[in-house]
Amino acid sequence: MAAGFHNADATEIARLTRTLTAARVVDGQAELESIHASEPWRIRVSARGDAAVVSRWRDHLPYLAIDALWCPVTRIGDALADIRAVADTQGFTDIVSPPTPVEEMHPYVAEGMRPCVILATYQRSHLAEAAGRSAVEGIVVRTADPDDLRVLLDIDARCFDSFWRYDARHLSRFFASSRLAIAEQNGEALGYTLCTVSGSEGLLGRLCVVPERRREGIGSVLLSDTVHYVCGQGGQRVLLSTQTENAVSQRLYRGAGFRDTGRRYAFLRDGRDGA
Ligand SMILES: CC(C)(COP(=O)(O)OP(=O)(O)OC[C@H]1O[C@@H](n2cnc3c(N)ncnc32)[C@H](O)[C@@H]1OP(=O)(O)O)[C@@H](O)C(=O)NCCC(=O)NCCS
Repeated sequence: MAAGFHNADATEIARLTRTLTAARVVDGQAELESIHASEPWRIRVSARGDAAVVSRWRDHLPYLAIDALWCPVTRIGDALADIRAVADTQGFTDIVSPPTPVEEMHPYVAEGMRPCVILATYQRSHLAEAAGRSAVEGIVVRTADPDDLRVLLDIDARCFDSFWRYDARHLSRFFASSRLAIAEQNGEALGYTLCTVSGSEGLLGRLCVVPERRREGIGSVLLSDTVHYVCGQGGQRVLLSTQTENAVSQRLYRGAGFRDTGRRYAFLRDGRDGA
């Protein structure tokens, strides 16, 4: 493999545990040790102290995601050469960068990667000032539990394309770390949210409504529910990101008191599969 990277050994794994856990790349030591035992190629280090963690982007796509990359900008090329070699060996056809501030994406572009999506970030503060909860007659929002996994996967698949939609592995992890909430009518699931509260911040990671029930106010009900949930957890801000080209969602967020922070993030891909 290129540029002096190798699979991290047990000592290097132990050294990385704290950093990777704090950065939420892994849940903790047990997960890291399990990766080390079953897929050692996922954690790569170099003698110069560089480190990269990779994983399958989605179970239904042969893409390798870079979950974390720690190296000076000048060595991103070396790291990408190594990750490309890992991808080839493991049978992946494309590479997905970590979410990267657009002003910092030039080293990836210089190495031949192309932005496949740009995300705008929105924020809402003063949560306690939120007006009354949005409501639509007959629509209730409840916290989801692991028994709802199939229902959530079904909604997700109806709302997002194959690149973005979650697989069971990704979605099921969120039950432990986050809150999933479902909007229902007479027991029929119509949309859902994913929200993670950390300190004073709530991160809205997902908001969607099935196509045939849009424009009935259900998205607004789900968003308002999230704002109240974060506030109830002691949070002071809700953050989210959405594709810059998603005019519909941005209209919804602005109407609900969110403002564009101006920060933009890119996911870049090699495009080796022709994308
Ligand atoms: C974005 C989404 C959740 C909105 O859900 P929804 O239930 O249709 O939203 P609402 O009915 O509550 O609409 C709220 C506001 O959003 C805006 N909006 C919603 N749909 C719109 C459309 N088709 N065109 C223009 N504005 C629209 C409007 O400002 C609307 O308020 P109004 O009806 O008073 O004009 C839904 O379109 C969706 O699931 N899209 C696919 C997934 C997605 O893009 N999620 C968000 C980014 S992760």
